[in-house]
Parts: sequence; C-alpha cells; structure tokens
Amino acid sequence: MKVLLTGGAGYIGSHTCVELLNQGYEVVIADDFSNSKPEVINRIKEITGKDVDVYPIDVADKNAMKKLFSEQSIGSVIHFAGYKAVGESCQKPLMYYRNNIDATLTLLEVMEEFGVNKFVFSSSATVYGENNPIPYVETMPITGCTNPYGWTKLMIEQILKDACAANKELSVVLLRYFNPIGAHPSGRIGEDPSGIPNNLLPYVAKVAVGKLPKLGVFGNDYPTVDGTGVRDYIHVVDLAKGHAAALAYAENHTGAEAINLGSGKGHSVLEIVNTFSRVNNVPVPYEIKPRREGDLPEFYANAEKAKELLDWTAELTLEDMCRDLWNWQSNNPDGY
Ligand code: UFG
Repeated sequence: MKVLLTGGAGYIGSHTCVELLNQGYEVVIADDFSNSKPEVINRIKEITGKDVDVYPIDVADKNAMKKLFSEQSIGSVIHFAGYKAVGESCQKPLMYYRNNIDATLTLLEVMEEFGVNKFVFSSSATVYGENNPIPYVETMPITGCTNPYGWTKLMIEQILKDACAANKELSVVLLRYFNPIGAHPSGRIGEDPSGIPNNLLPYVAKVAVGKLPKLGVFGNDYPTVDGTGVRDYIHVVDLAKGHAAALAYAENHTGAEAINLGSGKGHSVLEIVNTFSRVNNVPVPYEIKPRREGDLPEFYANAEKAKELLDWTAELTLEDMCRDLWNWQSNNPDGY
C-alpha cells in the first residue's frame, strides 16, 4: 500500500517524501505546482535514489483524484496541499476558504469511496488563537483564530473530528506545526517562496545571500527576553520524521488526535539573526520596524504528547537549522 502526499512537492511535503522513501514507504504525490516547482521531484529522486509517481493535479478536482485512487493502491494520506500565507488570507478570504476546505472535502469523499481510512493533516499552532497561555498544550480550549488561513486549519480540524465520530474506522492525526525552518542537509531541497518572503528565516536567508538589502525586525518592545518576537522553531527534517511517526501511529489507532510538533523551546528574532550570522559567518543587516499586525509576542509548544504517543522529539538544534538553511540558500540563490 502506498502513501499519498497531497502538496508533496512543497516545502514540508518534499522533506516528508524523502523521509518516507528512506524508511521504505512507496509514495505518490498529488501537486498542481501552483506554489512549488517540478524540479523538486528530480531532487527527491536524486537524494533518495528512489522513484515516486506524480500526479500534477488539483486536489479539489474530484475526477482527477478518483483516477489517481483507481490507478494506485493508496493505504494512507498526508494532506499538505493548501494556501498558507497569513497576510494574503486576510486580503482574499474567500479564495482561502474555497481552496483549503474544498480540497479537503473532496479528498475525504474520494478516500471514503475507496475505503482509505488513515489520514494525517497539516494543521498549525495558529489554531491556539491569541488567548491561550504558553506553552500550548493540546488539551487547551480552541475558540478561534486571528486570520482566515488559521480559520481554515481550525475548520478542517473540526470537519475531521466530525468525520471520525461518524466513521469509527477512520484514523486522523492533526499535526499542529510550530515554525518549521531549515532544509535537507544535502542542500538539494529547501524552502523556495515566490516573491518577497513573509516568514522570518526565508527573509534572513535572502538578505544573507544579497537578494534583499536588509531584514526588518517587527517590534522590539514585546514583553520577551530582548523585546523581539519569540517562536518555537523546528528543523524541517525533524518535522518530516514527525510525519512518519504520525503515519505509523495512524496505522494502529482510530479517532482524531491533535498533536503538537514543536521543540518546546522559544527563540527570539534577534537570537535567530545572531545565530544565523555566527554559524554561517555571514552578515545579516537589520533594522527595527514597527510591530506587524496580528503577531503574538511569544509562543512555543508543550511537546510531551508527541513524545508519549509518537515516540518523537525534535533533535536538531538552532545551529543545525541555520547551517542547513544557508547550505540550501547559498547553493540555490534563486531557488529551484
Ligand atoms: N519577523 C520579523 N521580520 C520578518 C518576518 C518575521 O521580525 O520579516 C518576526 C515576526 O514578527 C515573528 C517571528 O519573526 O515574531 C516569526 O515570524 P514568521 O512570519 O516567520 O512566523 P509566524 O510565527 O508569524 O507564523 C508562522 C507561520 C504560520 C503559522 C504560525 C503559527 O507562517 O503559517 O507560524 O504556527 F500559522
């Protein structure tokens, strides 16, 4: 039985694909390449020496998805495909709701039709909203999000919980990611955002490689260690291993389980900038800017549940993340 990765050519999907192939899984990718490059597939094959079937389709295209399921013996699905930019989701909320929710519903309907019951979902720490105390624990009340992107994650979590209540054979793991960064140590796959990056580390890397003049640090008057925002950064290779562990868990359980994938540690923006500079011996010029609307001062995971249920903990350090990111960025200054 094969594992279907929707959005498998994306940043987290491609790293998970490599991890699964290395662990001996057979993988099929469905990706419309709207926010990824076909070259990713060549790189995945190069790193692993293994083949992967690719369907260049939109997950919301039901007929195309049915064709995929009828041609491949799919046993489980990891659903990465979706729009993911917080700011853009505030400008184009309908596009976000339509795309993210439609694709998920279509996928679940096709899975039901073909009797596939194992599902791992890319959720986000953003579902904890702005009122929960840190560290975030899975048992906390989830009451709302601050942006449409986050709401799509929250709504899809609810859809999946309801689907599990109705179908006792369904097994769902809701992986709540914290802040994934870094790249595969080979330097052959990594994050390749189109246009000017929104997230911190891709921006830092573009400044370091000379593609952007200066990083703007959004606020230095937060009640944190040095006044800048604090997040729980996790190496994308650790995150990929977390998906493999979640898949194994889903094989032997039913029902819906939300699990944080984070390191349990917070790092400030300045700590990130300084570590990146030091480890890679490259300057990262920055200036302090006003706070970015919608940002929280500080959050990080309670990572106990992942350890208990998945036997998984984040192992790679901030230094590893910065070094691997630079290896990717400096060898691929224009991305793929
Ligand atoms: N930051 C800057 N300058 C930048 C970009 C970011 O100072 O140019 C700061 C932010 O203010 C924040 C920190 O760096 O303090 C991290 O910001 P990111 O944009 O990298 O990440 P966020 O924590 O805002 O958001 C990420 C994901 C979302 C997800 C959220 C919660 O992008 O998809 O984590 O898990 F919803």
